[in-house]
Amino acid sequence: MNMYEIITKKKRGGELNGEEIAFFVKGYVDGTIPDYQAAALVMAIWFNSMTERETVLLTQEMEHSGDILSQSVDGFTADKHSTGGVGDKTTLIVGPIAAACGIFVPKMSGRGLGHTGGTIDKLESIPGFNTALSAERFEEIVRDCGFAIAGQTGKLVPADKKLYALRDSISAVDSIPLICSSIMSKKLATGADGIVLDVKTGDGAFMKSYDDAVKLAELMVKTAKAAGRKCSAVISDMEQPLGMAVGNSLEVIEALETLKGRGEARLRELSLTLAAEMLLLSGKGTAKECRKAAEEALDSGSAIDVFRRTVKAQGGDTNVFDDYGKFPRAAAVTEVRSSESGYITHIHCEETGLIACSLGAGRTELGGRIDSTAGIVFSKTVGDHVEKGEVLGRLYSSSADEKTTAEAVARFSEVFTFSHEKPIQMEIVRKILR
Ligand code: URA
Repeated sequence: MNMYEIITKKKRGGELNGEEIAFFVKGYVDGTIPDYQAAALVMAIWFNSMTERETVLLTQEMEHSGDILSQSVDGFTADKHSTGGVGDKTTLIVGPIAAACGIFVPKMSGRGLGHTGGTIDKLESIPGFNTALSAERFEEIVRDCGFAIAGQTGKLVPADKKLYALRDSISAVDSIPLICSSIMSKKLATGADGIVLDVKTGDGAFMKSYDDAVKLAELMVKTAKAAGRKCSAVISDMEQPLGMAVGNSLEVIEALETLKGRGEARLRELSLTLAAEMLLLSGKGTAKECRKAAEEALDSGSAIDVFRRTVKAQGGDTNVFDDYGKFPRAAAVTEVRSSESGYITHIHCEETGLIACSLGAGRTELGGRIDSTAGIVFSKTVGDHVEKGEVLGRLYSSSADEKTTAEAVARFSEVFTFSHEKPIQMEIVRKILR
């Protein structure tokens, strides 16, 4: 067997077997297969796709390319993964709800890149919060609090690190089987018993089309089940930012407000749906019972208690829970007012994420610095009526200069679409696949 034959087989639309897939993954990780041959195979996969069987084999081979974590807590462990969106702070709400209901949530999260945010960056806006935990300390916090959150270790799924960078450089990220194997290899390697996937669809999402989002979700659920894990997927709307805040400390504040029962309706609904799915996978009851348990954990305050204990255990200043002034403050806050009257029918989601990045909330290159105070808080959302001159939102930054802020203001005014007729809001939860 050699790479030339494997590339030729895939180029002609053939189905690769387990030995061929293992030969490729092992050889690419250990450096015996050069980038140009790996790139040729990846592009052949991009054009000819992969069968379900090939996708499962590729995912499992990638999963085993590095460390595999085992969760040594006495109970069901569940993970939640979002395919990435704008204003998505659900992990900070869902993890505490699920843990308050008696399951364990050992969460490995990433940083933001491009227009989408990352949970680790958000949490690091809490003064003192440490996401670089040793494996032992991570396990201890999961056992004590039910929920802990850490940055992904460098030794987890090295095959994905190399393959993702390669795909990114040859315009081959947008392939459903390759996205599935990339995400699911990492999820399987972190060892949770159950995985709930939040697959976003719409303008601010990776999967712009609903049909593609469903295809990706179906494939990911099948891949998890083939590896013996419990899994379900929620297809959620990303045609508008999730909630009212975009940007790191601003999103943590919104998550805290939601945990206090004062959250924006769509954010609350998606968080409860995802938490209830985690409980359902763990066998805590029927779908209805799990939903009720999630609501009770949120409304009784037991979920916010879990989050407070987790933040304390990870070195964070828990005074932020009661005094948002303890978060770093933005040096400049700029109000943006509406130049017209009418109902808001759409908010351009990807552009919102890019504007927040331009204010300092995201990084445009790996390892770049984040301004944790930067971002956007909307005053109005889709379906609201606005009078000319009313405030649409506020832009926050400690790092943007005057010119950048002026550009951001001009761009922000353009993200809204208005109409004289009240629009029908898209449901936040579009479908659940089990
Ligand atoms: N996120 C991942 O981790 N991998 C992909 O391929 C796409 C999104």
